[in-house]
Amino acid sequence: MTLEITPLDAALGATVSNIDLSNPLSADSVAAIHDAWLQHIVLVFRGQSLSDPQLLDFTRYFGELEYPPYKLLNYSQGSGQKNDIPVEINVISNVIENGKKIGQLGASEAKWHTDTPFVERPPSASVLHALEIPPTGGNTSFMNMYAVLEALPAAIRARVEGKRCKHDVSHTSDGVLRHDYEESKDASECPGPWHPLIRSHPESDRKALYLGKRLYAYIEGLPIDENEELLDEIWAIAERPEFSYEHVWTKGDVLMWDNRCAMHRREAFDGNERRIMHRSQLRGDVPA
Ligand code: OGA
Ligand code: MN
Repeated sequence: MTLEITPLDAALGATVSNIDLSNPLSADSVAAIHDAWLQHIVLVFRGQSLSDPQLLDFTRYFGELEYPPYKLLNYSQGSGQKNDIPVEINVISNVIENGKKIGQLGASEAKWHTDTPFVERPPSASVLHALEIPPTGGNTSFMNMYAVLEALPAAIRARVEGKRCKHDVSHTSDGVLRHDYEESKDASECPGPWHPLIRSHPESDRKALYLGKRLYAYIEGLPIDENEELLDEIWAIAERPEFSYEHVWTKGDVLMWDNRCAMHRREAFDGNERRIMHRSQLRGDVPA
């Protein structure tokens, strides 16, 4: 059985088949997966069945594990996750048990974002394993940020070249105020780290546009109305369907994506249905 990599018919993504991620991987397999990940940005592994330790073992082949946001930000509410979940695992779920949420993100839309850009060193990868999925809805789309950068008209590119963007930590990607923060509606006043808008990928050496989320993003030096106008123009280009791949989940899927050159969004689904995904993260670099 040799591992097979099949590019998707889309702006990004490849399927990796003939591999069982619950087994130890050969050095050749790890190298092939790593190369494919750098080239295709999102990898899709179907038909997997991983325990949390197995998901973490798989992730560790590609670097150092990173903690989920609740731990990086030290949420005062804690994670809400059950006690038997390892601290490096982020449960993404709408399920409520005994009146308590077992995970994050609920059942509504999760707007376009990159994972955890609101820390100094955002995770390089997220690895998401589908344990339970609803019959319809909850598809997750991915956007190729190398391609978006290349598509920017020269006049817009000139306005973002060399500029930094502030990545607001106080709101979620859907604009909801996080518990531990104070509300400001002015993006220039929201707290968060600055990252370059055009970042050089440390492994591929390619340049990608780095947007964390649309709401409360702030480009340095701009009056707030100009900031909103420029971001709207950029986002109108980014959201063209030609730059994305929409994944329809099957139970057992494992998706591994590169946060340094991709954004993703999750569509809503019926909140009466159960959806449970377990996610691991890889430690990244300071964006440069
Ligand atoms: C995530 C995320 C999408 C989904 O895990 O970072 O955005 O499909 N999840 O639930
Ligand atoms: Mn996400």
